[in-house]
Amino acid sequence: MKIISSSSSRELSLRLSEELKCEILDIEKKRFPDGEMYIRIIGDIKGEDIVAVGNTREDAEIIEFLLMMNAAKENGAGKVIAVIPYFGYARQHMIYKSGEPVSSKVMVSSIENFCDSIIVVEIHDLETAKFSRKGVLNVRIVKPFVEYYKNKKIDYIVSPDDGGLERAKELADLLKTKYFNIDKKRLDSRNVTMTVPDIDVKGKNILLLDDMISTGGTIIKATDLLKKNGADKVYVSAVHGIFANGSYMEISSIAQDVIITDTIFGKWSKISVAGEVAEAV
Ligand code: R5P
Repeated sequence: MKIISSSSSRELSLRLSEELKCEILDIEKKRFPDGEMYIRIIGDIKGEDIVAVGNTREDAEIIEFLLMMNAAKENGAGKVIAVIPYFGYARQHMIYKSGEPVSSKVMVSSIENFCDSIIVVEIHDLETAKFSRKGVLNVRIVKPFVEYYKNKKIDYIVSPDDGGLERAKELADLLKTKYFNIDKKRLDSRNVTMTVPDIDVKGKNILLLDDMISTGGTIIKATDLLKKNGADKVYVSAVHGIFANGSYMEISSIAQDVIITDTIFGKWSKISVAGEVAEAV
């Protein structure tokens, strides 16, 4: 087994190669004069099972990932396992307004043309899996959070919406803390309203846990509310940290700590999903 990684997932792929004790192959990447992307896998892949790792958020990383998987297949790889740490476009898994595409269907169908199986990490909505003919394995991330927070004296784990309540409960059970969710209503892609349930958080340490931080609007509003209600420390964590428009600075100025995983690598990626992904492979 060997690993190939798109530019979006180098750090995670290096960790994965340690976990799986297998080689990670270099990829030559450049642009043709007309702007099109060129990639070439360097090394022998004939007959090897290949783990191809790449995110599907930015346009360029999508095409890089597809070319990479095709290169593996065309050059005689055995099985190609697509690992998508951050599966972008999973939000649009249905038509909300007439005339829209079902983007997550487009993404899944494109990927499975070039691979034998698909592994994703904490996909935004599992509805996407129903578009796959080959099946999608969704890896849940819990243990790395337990390790990070076990000595932080957390009183409550709080999900900023009801969709994340199961995640909060699972972690709370392992950390032996209490948990609840904020009632969030989304007005549009940037604005939400929130109501905190009638629970006394005065002087308490809170871990605010979400699947992803995108614009940061959800986490900023939730942190503000919990602090206004008297919470002492508010730690913020999510699996995927996009931090659109540099929202990290604003979040870190009001939270005790901001920690995300290495699915989208940045300087705040303090925990890794490599162990869980390796098990799934
Ligand atoms: C919503 O369903 C998700 O769990 C996140 O709360 C949301 O995607 C975060 O987005 P933003 O950071 O833009 O508020």
